[in-house]
Amino acid sequence: MEKTRWYKDRVFYQIWPRSFKDGNGDGMGDLWGVYEKLDYIKSLGCGGIWFSPLYPSPGADCGYDIADYMDIAPEFGGMEAFQKVLEGAHQRDMKVIMDLVVNHTSDEHEWFQKSRQRIAPYTDYYIWRPGKPGGKLPNNWDSLFEGKAWTWDEVRGEYYMHLFAIKQPDLNMDNPLVREEVKKILKFWLDMGVDGFREDVITFVSKAEGLPNDYLMPASKGIGLYNHGPHIHEYLSEFQRDVLSHYDCVTLAEAPMVNPKITLTYTTEGPEQEIDMMIQFETQCADCLFSDYMPMPFSLRKLKAAFSSWQNKLRGKSWNMLYMENHDHPRIISRYGSEQFWKESGKMLAACYLFQQGTPFVYQGQEIGMLNWRPESPEMYEDVQTIWQYEHKAVNKPAKKRLQRLWRASRDSARTPVQWDDGENAGFTTGKPWFYVNENYRQINVAQQEEDPDSILHFYRKAIQLRKSLPVVRYGDYQEHFKGSGKLYCYTRTGENQQLLVLCSFAGKPQKLRIPAGFIREKARLILCNYQSEDQRELRPYECRVYLLD
Ligand code: GLC
Ligand code: CA
Repeated sequence: MEKTRWYKDRVFYQIWPRSFKDGNGDGMGDLWGVYEKLDYIKSLGCGGIWFSPLYPSPGADCGYDIADYMDIAPEFGGMEAFQKVLEGAHQRDMKVIMDLVVNHTSDEHEWFQKSRQRIAPYTDYYIWRPGKPGGKLPNNWDSLFEGKAWTWDEVRGEYYMHLFAIKQPDLNMDNPLVREEVKKILKFWLDMGVDGFREDVITFVSKAEGLPNDYLMPASKGIGLYNHGPHIHEYLSEFQRDVLSHYDCVTLAEAPMVNPKITLTYTTEGPEQEIDMMIQFETQCADCLFSDYMPMPFSLRKLKAAFSSWQNKLRGKSWNMLYMENHDHPRIISRYGSEQFWKESGKMLAACYLFQQGTPFVYQGQEIGMLNWRPESPEMYEDVQTIWQYEHKAVNKPAKKRLQRLWRASRDSARTPVQWDDGENAGFTTGKPWFYVNENYRQINVAQQEEDPDSILHFYRKAIQLRKSLPVVRYGDYQEHFKGSGKLYCYTRTGENQQLLVLCSFAGKPQKLRIPAGFIREKARLILCNYQSEDQRELRPYECRVYLLD
């Protein structure tokens, strides 16, 4: 089947279902709620939706612990509601992609229940090992969420590996039967009409032969031994060959610790291509080291270097996935922008990535500039990673510091319900919300921003509309200017008959206006800006401008 690469002309919207919109009043977001909001998503200019997991799940990791891959959770509306949403999205020319989480399942999945009892053919579906003499664990790897990567199972009398939560046992992808299961899942959803997959930590599925100890990493031990492991290309090619290549679908791979060079081994366009786009973390590390829990001061130079590296190195070979937010990171205005200059920086952060080459993703609430949630007590957190961090890290620090650490890094900062209006529970539910609503919903909500032509919401619409109408955004060369500046991000996109100049100030104070040599501003049109008038000499706090020469 010829791949049309339709994703190159679209912008995606990410839905994290629990907090998007409740349709039946039980306090939990669901597909009835999504159905109500399809026109809203379309109105942003989006041509696709990525759903974080909708499958039946005990919810130990908010759905990333799956108990059944071929169904939709009843609390989200079951298969019937899903099919209605799928159809509704397609009628509006929006594609739908699912989250494929096959590094691990829930421990409540039938496969695990049978595997722990050694019932064929499930016996080797997971990574089981006896302990080492002296009661030692099978190896020294860490789980990324909760302590070590091994938990003892009384039923089987062995340890199982879990790179994430204890309730997320890792599948044994080296077992061909497990790969057959994955292919069945892919086929099941594609045959139903789904348009592709976002593949959760897919580069972790092939573990180093013999599961050796890690003597290199001081933390996250093992990551170098299971990330991009020995058979990863083989397995991904097998999924392509046997299933994915027979459909005009898209695949996105999530890969912590990946650079453009490694990415190209998966995504280079051609007959050997395994994945369409990589979800990288480098652009998420401008204010931290590897993880949000290792904070650093925000560095625009680091952010710019990451943006440009991906733009330049993938060009002509592969395609970027562009994003500023998702369900795994705190809100971007609270991180790279300024809550003080909320509106200005919210718009600027949109402009800074929406004119790059690639397929942009917008995470629910990002389009209205939702901010980090900062609860007054650590007991209010829900996320398994956050809770473990609180209980085991920085435990000697004063209580206030420990809480602030969570405010800064927790994934729950970005998982509060979408703020639809200034009514009760921000219009998210008529019942009792499953999670806390950010108290700022009276100031920040969709209804208010629909009314205000100067809102962040309208800015997103305009920027996305422009992006889609300008071929230079898809095809043009990318060039960064004033690289040394720690305040200004400036790039041009140059095509045959069009040139775009994007200027973004990351400063709370006015900056001198700088225009790259050779770009004749007098001949260009200012097509997007987050201030009312065009100042000839300075960029105001968090100002962004997009000029078009044609
Ligand atoms: C990915 C998901 C994250 C989840 C983890 C384990 O990083 O985005 O939300 O917790 O994988 O499945
Ligand atoms: Ca509900």
